Amino acid sequence: MENQNKNKKRILSGVTPSGYLTIGHITGALANWVKLQDEFDSYFMVADLHAITVRQVPADLRQRTLDTLAFFLAAGIDPDKSTVFVQSQVPAHSELTWVLSTFTGMGECQRMTQFKDKSAKNMDNINVGLFSYPILMACDILLYQADCVPVGQDQKQHLELTRNIAQRFNHHYSDTFTSPEPFIPKIGGRIMSLQDPKQKMSKSDANENATIFLKDEDDVIKRKIKRAVTDSGTGIIYNENNPGIANLMELYSIATNTNYEQIESKFESAGYAEFKEACGNAVAEFVAPIREKFKDIRQNKSLLNEIIQHGKEKAGKTAFKTLRKVYKKVGFYQG
Ligand code: TRP
Repeated sequence: MENQNKNKKRILSGVTPSGYLTIGHITGALANWVKLQDEFDSYFMVADLHAITVRQVPADLRQRTLDTLAFFLAAGIDPDKSTVFVQSQVPAHSELTWVLSTFTGMGECQRMTQFKDKSAKNMDNINVGLFSYPILMACDILLYQADCVPVGQDQKQHLELTRNIAQRFNHHYSDTFTSPEPFIPKIGGRIMSLQDPKQKMSKSDANENATIFLKDEDDVIKRKIKRAVTDSGTGIIYNENNPGIANLMELYSIATNTNYEQIESKFESAGYAEFKEACGNAVAEFVAPIREKFKDIRQNKSLLNEIIQHGKEKAGKTAFKTLRKVYKKVGFYQG
């Protein structure tokens, strides 16, 4: 495996274990990762260092770290092909963050849309970590010299910052970091909230009905879709001005592997209620095998621990190599 990967381009991506994973994580991330893992030397990470920018219950964070990893595997990530690891187990992430924070402008962090959104949502805890979160993310990527980073549209700005930091460092010293390209999926990257289809579906939404979690049982999924907020129109026609129906059509399209024209003709004479029922059934059928596989893997603690240990060693080796190079360039004494 190691040798085979030598000529492959490298990708890295991660999910923050700050809540239960949603169907959006499959459509926008994991399904793509699974497709990419043969072609690329792949690193997939549970980003627990990122999670604590918002207060977490320690026991929950530990559980969700394992949940997230188990969902990676349930979705089809193969730890024999890809390096799967937990971020906090590789100290180089925190260490590089300090160095690269001295290569990042205050203004650059201040401009990040996600920082503005998250500070508005967490007024009582606008901590420095929330502010410097994109530097940590840049380090996640740069430590592994990733060529490509599959992320959702909402992370594009962080990728641009990563490129700027990399280029600035390279320019100041000499070529050190690979400048990564974002890889943004065209469809499925932005599944919207079922209760407010103008907002992205989020694992941390206060309203449970807004989100389809991968752990949801069939009846829960069907009920949530039945109750999804839709506009006052009637026909099943894809139109961005009808974001509620457009979102359900996107879900249906992903769950059944059909396109919008096929859906429109299939439901030509159907009303919203009929379409919602069909959509609920299709989405439940799509999620069920992932959920069942998850349950199976999740209770196999020794398997998960083995994967985490192996990932720690493999990721740690790659990351440490980059960190050592950086320490040398900035002038830290290394004996
Ligand atoms: N910030 C990302 C998110 O909220 C998760 C993440 C952390 C990540 N580090 C990363 C994604 C590195 C890609 C690469 O979705």
